[in-house]
Amino acid sequence: MVDATIGHGGHSLLFGRSLGPDGVIVGLDVDKKAIQGAQFRLKDLACKVILINGNFSEIGELVREQGVEKADFILADLGVCSAQLADSEFGLSFQTDMPLDMSIDKRIKTTAADIVNKSDEKSLADLIYKFGQERASRRISRFIVREREGRPISTTGQLASIVCRALQRPGRKRRSRIHPATRTFQALRIAVNEELENLERLLASAPGLLAEHGRMAVISYHSLEDRLVKVNFRANEKDGIYKVVTKKPILPSREEIGRNPRARSAKLRIAEKKQSTE
Ligand SMILES: C[S@@+](CC[C@H](N)C(=O)[O-])C[C@H]1O[C@@H](n2cnc3c(N)ncnc32)[C@H](O)[C@@H]1O
Repeated sequence: MVDATIGHGGHSLLFGRSLGPDGVIVGLDVDKKAIQGAQFRLKDLACKVILINGNFSEIGELVREQGVEKADFILADLGVCSAQLADSEFGLSFQTDMPLDMSIDKRIKTTAADIVNKSDEKSLADLIYKFGQERASRRISRFIVREREGRPISTTGQLASIVCRALQRPGRKRRSRIHPATRTFQALRIAVNEELENLERLLASAPGLLAEHGRMAVISYHSLEDRLVKVNFRANEKDGIYKVVTKKPILPSREEIGRNPRARSAKLRIAEKKQSTE
């Protein structure tokens, strides 16, 4: 199997326990620390574990370089893990003040601070609207531009407080229970890490890497990602490449959300590669 987002190896540990010594798990992650965590967690598995610090946008090349031609299962659990949210090296959290970075792949040179300090007001509003689905994007962008005229925006706390100020209109109540900065932070993270482009590349490469009857499973956490997965699976089904296994996405139960609130927005979709008729 290929675990395209191995993180700290939680999923691979479960799958790996049912693989014997002939089984192989190839795990990818852009985060070096996650790779180290997975290495430790998977060390007692009977199967072979190959870990690669790389981006799943290059899944085909990275896996074949290891001498693995086909996979029976590809898993992608998108987004970030809790350890990354808490780690100031990534600068992702609006709960704790940290440098405004947001790049998970440290080969990326553009940070969230670059975007908020250098983009013009309209481009910034468009980005917050498109990737954050934030209806108040223009107002937030205006507040950001006004603030940065005084001093550059360099921390997550500074940005979160600007967004909160932009959204606190007297006489209006935001009905949402999520933190006001959630959508703006999501937008910047998607932009910095080119998350949608990378997902599109992964989805495009998967059929070539899957063995016949091999399965591709993707867990997504927001509608922009889920839509890409849904559209890709359906298009491949129409072309006779996949059979979609999950007509509707599989969602966590209430009990699971109770145990793990971060699972609340998760959607799992699975497709199976059809037997070639050629
Ligand atoms: C939700 S966590 C995965 C957790 C993992 N399933 C587990 O059980 O521990 C998502 C992981 O995907 C990684 N990631 C995000 N985008 C990536 C990409 N384009 N290529 C490779 N890894 C990526 C993140 O660094 C993070 O470790």
